[in-house]
Amino acid sequence: MAGTVSDMSASRPVSQVCHALSPFGTTIFSEMTTLARAHDAINLGQGFPDFDGPDILHEAVTTAIRDGHNQYAPLAGLPALQEAAARDASEYLGRTVDGAAEVTVTSGCTEAIAAALLGLLNPGDEVLAFEPFYDSYPACCALAGARLKTITLRPPAFEFDAAALEAAVTPDTRVVLLNTPHNPTGRVATAAELDAIARICIAHDLIAITDEVYDRIVLEGEHLCLAAREGMADRTITLRSLGKTFSVTGWKIGWAIAPPHLTAAVRAAHQFLTYAVSTPMQHAAVAALGLGSAFYDDLQDDYRRRRDCLLPALEASGLTPHPPQGTYFVMCDHSALGHGDADAYCRWLVKTRGVAAIPPGSFYANPQTGASLVRFAFCKRLETLQEAVRRL
Ligand SMILES: Cc1ncc(COP(=O)(O)O)c(C=O)c1O
Repeated sequence: MAGTVSDMSASRPVSQVCHALSPFGTTIFSEMTTLARAHDAINLGQGFPDFDGPDILHEAVTTAIRDGHNQYAPLAGLPALQEAAARDASEYLGRTVDGAAEVTVTSGCTEAIAAALLGLLNPGDEVLAFEPFYDSYPACCALAGARLKTITLRPPAFEFDAAALEAAVTPDTRVVLLNTPHNPTGRVATAAELDAIARICIAHDLIAITDEVYDRIVLEGEHLCLAAREGMADRTITLRSLGKTFSVTGWKIGWAIAPPHLTAAVRAAHQFLTYAVSTPMQHAAVAALGLGSAFYDDLQDDYRRRRDCLLPALEASGLTPHPPQGTYFVMCDHSALGHGDADAYCRWLVKTRGVAAIPPGSFYANPQTGASLVRFAFCKRLETLQEAVRRL
């Protein structure tokens, strides 16, 4: 029998979240940000800059709005942005990329991850990823009805262990999802690691999805693309984003680069996830990609200074930092301080020192794997970091 209105309100407290998503709950980021606000803490938890991107971007987006670029963009992105992303990609992929056929503009890399996974996977498929992982990976796999299997990156070096990756392959494995430079460990994959992963993908006929949102924030060594390794161009979807490189995480512009047969999968999902992405922001993204190598060099120098400001203070506070080779995060071991697990240490830190960090449990299949670690973000102005150093 159909329920009455009063029956429905009585049952309202029962969660209506679907089975696939109910295990995920609310992200730790919003919880720590709320605690940081309550204790007037310096927020080194969530990874967004406390400074704005280059002025030229702000002018470009304002001009685009004034010039009337305010209606839906094409499904796959503005042709000018597809071309700019293709030119940029041709350099690091070592081949000519066809913007119209191979670039799909998405709402940040987060949507690109979702579109790639939802567009490719069938229920029962398996995805292999290294943990700690970006927290949308397991949620997107769950939405697709797929299984995420993880291989743990272990401190101090957090190397990508290809032998462990290969041992995890089964007949159901379809995708390897790789993030380099890696959040939160700061590991940058080496040529040898990428070649070993490429060999496994080819041997087992796997598709690779590479999340490269920190491609321009490399502090030691260089960023290399899996798609550029021999035999990988036809089986890799490379994901990039504007947010980290140009300090505009709120703009949510990303893109997927893939050969046409894989682009078809990305677009099949993208058309129903967002259809098209903010038009004026895409115009500004074209301007951003035109800034060139001097901009990237300055960005890396700035991030080296920020890292070098924070690391000694973390060490002096009794933590053991694992210096990152890339990204704007540093993982530290807090176990010598005796505050219990990472959640307990982060609560203690925010309440007594006024500095917020992130316990990385939600980046692991089993949160206990990361219980001795804590992540600090250094994408903050030097003044902010100096104040955090003083408090630590
Ligand atoms: C590894 C990784 N992938 C993807 C994203 C999301 O990128 P975007 O903001 O472009 O959606 C982030 C953001 O923190 C990230 O750290």
